[in-house]
Amino acid sequence: MEQRTRSQLEKMINTVLWIVLIAFVGFAGKDYFDKTLAPTEFDQPTDHAPPLFKVEAKAPNFEAEDIAWYRDHFGNPVPPQGEAPEDWTEIEASSDPKDCGVCHPQQLTDWAESWHATGMGPGVMGQLVDWDGENDGMVKACQSCHAPNIEQYPRIGGEENPHYDEELRAAGLTCVGCHVREHERLGPPTADNPVQSDTDLGEDTDELVEDTEDETRQPHDGFTAKAEFQDGLFCEQCHDFRPGQLSLEDKLLQETWQEWRRTEYAEKGISCQDCHMPEGRHLWKGIHDADMTRAAFSAEPALLRSGLGFLEPLEASLKVTNVGAGHRFPTYTTPAVVLVFEQLDASGAVIENTRQEGFISRRVTPNLKEELWDTRLLPDEEFTMVYRAERSEDAVRLACRVEIWPDDAYRRFYEINLGKPDNYPTGRAQIEEALQASIDSQYIAWEGEVDLTAAE
Ligand code: HEC
Ligand code: HEC
Ligand code: HEC
Ligand code: HEC
Ligand code: HEC
Repeated sequence: MEQRTRSQLEKMINTVLWIVLIAFVGFAGKDYFDKTLAPTEFDQPTDHAPPLFKVEAKAPNFEAEDIAWYRDHFGNPVPPQGEAPEDWTEIEASSDPKDCGVCHPQQLTDWAESWHATGMGPGVMGQLVDWDGENDGMVKACQSCHAPNIEQYPRIGGEENPHYDEELRAAGLTCVGCHVREHERLGPPTADNPVQSDTDLGEDTDELVEDTEDETRQPHDGFTAKAEFQDGLFCEQCHDFRPGQLSLEDKLLQETWQEWRRTEYAEKGISCQDCHMPEGRHLWKGIHDADMTRAAFSAEPALLRSGLGFLEPLEASLKVTNVGAGHRFPTYTTPAVVLVFEQLDASGAVIENTRQEGFISRRVTPNLKEELWDTRLLPDEEFTMVYRAERSEDAVRLACRVEIWPDDAYRRFYEINLGKPDNYPTGRAQIEEALQASIDSQYIAWEGEVDLTAAE
């Protein structure tokens, strides 16, 4: 009896040991298989960058009274300019950016190249023309950032707008949108005279105001200095949604100032203007500009495994760090920063089926209902993509690069919406143009190579 129990116990122990052993070999084997025998595609991480309330702030938030001037300045819409003072010349009274440019040529040249000047480009206009008269509320919402002056709205409160200026609407976010209220010029204080400067722009411009009676009068009667023009809150007005507006995973769709507030730049008082308007330049370069974007990140490739050992895959990594963007890199939901690897043969040709890619972006579904991932980087944060694949016999180099698709989400959105024939009855041609532009805007911001011959 005792004997039997004992041998039963031994048997049981044996069985358990065998199960443990098999399980161990199985797990180890699976691990070995996963790591070595089965080269896998890079799996795009579906991490969700934390909401900003979980990230320590380096500069205080604003109170309602801090922001009141800005909210009023960009009143939705910006009220009519009205009649200009009687003694003003036509050019002084004009809202046309080209007329401002007669006396402010540098600002005009810069602005004309900037994304603010394309605020009513085909991607925006193509959508709005089909909403005019059908959904004026939506038009108003979009234009509050893209073309905010009342003279730019075809309809107001469901009626034709008597102030409407079609050309000005097409001009997007213009000089008057930021600087002119009831013909009064507002601008940043100048060093030589914090309130009104005596800048003499030369004889040519003197002539432009010469038919006035008062010879000492400055063009457009000078200007009012406002330090608000040098504060990031000026940009916040349009680059951050308001609390309560569309957010996913507790992050507003656009919240660039709030991101900035979490950075060392904010702590040191380095504003949006310092990076985007150096020396007052009106270029506002961003993700569409290769040099600007190159300043935002560093990229470090490394070879991890040569792929020459027994059943060993080729393994390499590319680490991208935000070293220069004063907010998340990239800050909005629309761009994609794409890390790409490909094996090359001796002639430099890409070997088929060796490409893998990873995304630094905030990917949301085109209906804006779900965030699929958010791998964007606050300053000093990094993203590492590990490439793992079978090494081709012909491979001598592994090429890696960082591609930028500044309008990636729009490309997806336009493709889907153009697929439905009833969409965009009026704006279709413009949306087709915008789709092409969203493809053409792609560029390579960084390229590197891992030499595979050295590892042989
Ligand atoms: C809170 C301000 C704001 C509102 C409201 C807004 N936008 Fe924008 N929009 C922006 C900013 C800022 C950008 C540039 C974003 C970037 O590149 O980071 C932009 C970019 C775009 C672009 C891509 C650039 C281009 O010109 O092709 C399109 C298209 C666009 N918006 C359409 C719309 C439409 C349509 C609406 C209304 C449904 C709208 N926007 C409402 C601020 C706004
Ligand atoms: C998006 C808003 C915006 C638009 C559009 C805009 N400006 Fe400005 N402008 C600013 C800000 C902000 C500053 C202050 C920059 C600084 O001091 O850092 C400024 C500064 C200026 C100055 C002061 C001198 C200087 O360069 O700092 C002039 C003059 C000026 N702008 C004229 C123009 C003209 C003319 C246009 C149109 C061709 C224009 N601006 C379009 C925002 C804007
Ligand atoms: C006839 C020439 C002329 C025209 C046209 C003109 N300006 Fe000016 N502007 C000047 C001069 C000169 C000054 C400097 C005024 C002073 O020092 O008081 C100035 C100053 C300014 C400033 C303040 C610059 C600062 O240092 O902060 C702004 C902003 C500005 N203009 C915007 C505009 C805009 C916007 C337009 C078009 C809607 C325009 N101006 C049209 C000549 C002109
Ligand atoms: C009145 C609204 C408004 C204000 C104020 C404003 N922006 Fe913009 N900004 C926009 C819109 C709208 C776009 C997108 C334009 C388009 O559709 O092409 C844009 C585009 C940009 C871009 C180009 C992004 C790219 O995709 O490359 C930069 C950079 C930028 N803004 C910076 C600034 C800075 C810095 C300030 C403050 C000095 C500022 N903006 C103030 C509305 C505004
Ligand atoms: C330390 C410099 C720095 C500061 C401060 C900064 N930016 Fe940028 N910004 C960049 C660089 C570099 C890029 C290009 C890379 C990128 O897109 O993130 C950029 C890109 C952008 C873009 C392009 C769109 C996108 O999706 O990335 C917008 C819009 C923008 N910045 C707005 C702002 C606003 C608004 C502020 C202030 C709240 C600001 N920036 C502060 C450096 C800066």
